[in-house]
Amino acid sequence: MIKGLHHVAIAVNDLDSAVKVLEAAFGLKVSHIEEVQEQKVKVAFIPLGDTRLEIMEPTSEDSTVAKFLANRGEGLHHIALHAGDAAEALREAGEAGVRLIDKVARDGAHGTRVGFVHPKSTFGCLFELVEDKK
Ligand code: CO
Repeated sequence: MIKGLHHVAIAVNDLDSAVKVLEAAFGLKVSHIEEVQEQKVKVAFIPLGDTRLEIMEPTSEDSTVAKFLANRGEGLHHIALHAGDAAEALREAGEAGVRLIDKVARDGAHGTRVGFVHPKSTFGCLFELVEDKK
């Protein structure tokens, strides 16, 4: 059901300066930057072999990422697992007894379908289940 690591997301206060640091330090390159309205974030995508880094900056005070930054500061925000079917993966996780943030899959960046599992159920780590565009 889970095919691998889809991406790792980092929350930052300032996307442009964060991207400059990562590009200079590791020779990485941003492929594009996109605003994800649904989550009120601006995201820089950095390809990394079969996976990628996503650097996120909130675009609104009421973004969950803004709240995360206020509470915990910059850092690792979530780990995204590549699911064949996000709705099915959420259902299975729920049946296994973990708490879900999203009971049903919703739209993510690039036409993906995504759902989040509550970090209280998974050792403080926020997991996202991602199904790529068909
Ligand atoms: Co994500």
